Amino acid sequence: MCGIVGYIGKENALKAVVEGLEKLEYRGYDSAGVAYKKGEDILICKEKGRVSDLKLCILDTDSSLAIGHTRWATHGEPNKRNAHPHCSMNGRFVIVHNGIIENYQKLKFEYLSEYSFISETDTEIIVNLIEHFSISLTTEEAIRKTMSLLEGSYACLILDQNDLEHIYCMKDKSPLLIGRGKSAVCFASDITGLIGYAEEYMPLEDKTFGVISKEGIYLQDIIGIAIENKFQKIAVQKEEIDKQTYDHFMLKEIYEQPMMVRNLIHHYFSKEEVNVSSKLIHHIRQSDKINFVACGSSMYASYFAKYYMEKLCGIPCEVFCASELVYSTPLISKRPFFIFFSQSGETADLIAVIKKIKKQRFPILTITNTIESSMVRLSDYYLNIYAGKEIAVASTKAYTAMIVTSAILARAVSKTKTNLKSNLKAVSLAMEKVLENKEVCKGIAKEIIDQKDAFYIGRGIDYWTSLEASLKLKEIAYIHTEAFSSGELKHGPIALITKNTPVLAIITQEGTNRITRSNLEETASRGAKTYVIASKGLSTPKDDVIIPNVAHYLSPLVSVLVVQLIAYYAAVLKHNDVDKPKNLAKSVTVE
Ligand code: AGP
Ligand code: GLU
Repeated sequence: MCGIVGYIGKENALKAVVEGLEKLEYRGYDSAGVAYKKGEDILICKEKGRVSDLKLCILDTDSSLAIGHTRWATHGEPNKRNAHPHCSMNGRFVIVHNGIIENYQKLKFEYLSEYSFISETDTEIIVNLIEHFSISLTTEEAIRKTMSLLEGSYACLILDQNDLEHIYCMKDKSPLLIGRGKSAVCFASDITGLIGYAEEYMPLEDKTFGVISKEGIYLQDIIGIAIENKFQKIAVQKEEIDKQTYDHFMLKEIYEQPMMVRNLIHHYFSKEEVNVSSKLIHHIRQSDKINFVACGSSMYASYFAKYYMEKLCGIPCEVFCASELVYSTPLISKRPFFIFFSQSGETADLIAVIKKIKKQRFPILTITNTIESSMVRLSDYYLNIYAGKEIAVASTKAYTAMIVTSAILARAVSKTKTNLKSNLKAVSLAMEKVLENKEVCKGIAKEIIDQKDAFYIGRGIDYWTSLEASLKLKEIAYIHTEAFSSGELKHGPIALITKNTPVLAIITQEGTNRITRSNLEETASRGAKTYVIASKGLSTPKDDVIIPNVAHYLSPLVSVLVVQLIAYYAAVLKHNDVDKPKNLAKSVTVE
């Protein structure tokens, strides 16, 4: 998590770093800080809270070198003392760090008994180790020595008070990109942080050490061999990271979904044929089991991928939660294929699994929104979900884009032809209709915002949408919401129903329509305030939200917009920070 930014160049470094931090703030927002060159000194400015709070203390305009950090606390409370940048005890080195140092207590005990510490962070150990080793080593050697001792994950930018012409970097497991523009060299945790200052970027490999100056970039791998600078053009446009006229990024991203579906059709179809690498299709066809691995919303999207692959291609599939899989390896079939879903492509839980799977030489496909990510670099294949940058912490368009991409992939792998393309076109129109009806969703949101608990129910496909629905309501509206397969209610959860508990049923499948309605009725008899979100063909006049009919297997792409809007309006009505909900971060780069 967290965002780090560094800038060295001809423009105002402080402005560049603060702008970069603002773009990266969705990655972590407990505190923010910058360190910059002022004459012959390094000045530090940090605050608990947002980058905007920082702006008050940084009116300096004539710095050519700066580093910055927006934090998602792992060690120590989110307060000013623990905010980055951190300084070594004698003031020589300054650091910003993204990641977790797992052996920091041991290192502190072994090497730093003479040192005193100001913060509770693991980061302060790194900067003091560098200072400790610099007594007898050059800065480069001291940093490399420190790297050799650290266990865990880190992307760090380091300043040396004795040499204010350089920014040093080191990286293992946490993401770090280096950017190059006409008048600057910069660093950022992801590509958005570079926009406006760099035209090209290069992602750094694990265990890279580097040093940059106005004159150039010098990178080395773990054994000290120089790494060739291989830059690529930055393709993300400035407009993609702009809120435009929307109140929040989340709303903008919800509204982008019909267009996203059309984009995916455009990217993957030529006439009725799907363009996916024949090598990938062949590889998947040869497998005896597909294992889907993901976290959070991406994991909920992969339930649909499992469904499409099994139904259309007849290959058995299983969905795994990455953070569980990494510690408990299941029985692996003879010819497995692994498919990872990740919006960011940087989720640490997933990277840990990929590395494990890679060692066993099993084939890996990553389906992602970020093709310049670590996960893509570690995979044999990747598919772009073409959702465009997703900024709001709560995933919306990336979730639906993953479902569309998996339907397209299943269609490519399957030997049966379906009219997926025209069905998807109908989905984009149906999505527009739901958006036109947003006031109904707002009305429901108004009725449930004061409730402590809520439930989403459904069966099969609708149950998976319920999982996503409940996550949305939890993460941005802070309402404790659970999803249940409606048939499971009577096996225990129904005991939780009290007067006015909201129970929202999602009904888009003919086979489960009647039974889900009966289950909903059972909750109403126990006092629940019930709501029905139903496809038109299955609806009754009493239903609360009626969504257009689309091919039954694509209906979750439409029903989910309703629950996204309910969560969005609930959060707005509660005056929550919709795009940056508390305790969360967009890119979860710690395990
Ligand atoms: C979604 O709303 C959440 N913010 C979260 O569950 C997210 O889907 C999860 O952290 C996985 O992220 P990824 O897709 O970037 O790997
Ligand atoms: N572990 C460090 C801290 O808690 C860095 C966290 C981050 O990546 O934001 O300060």
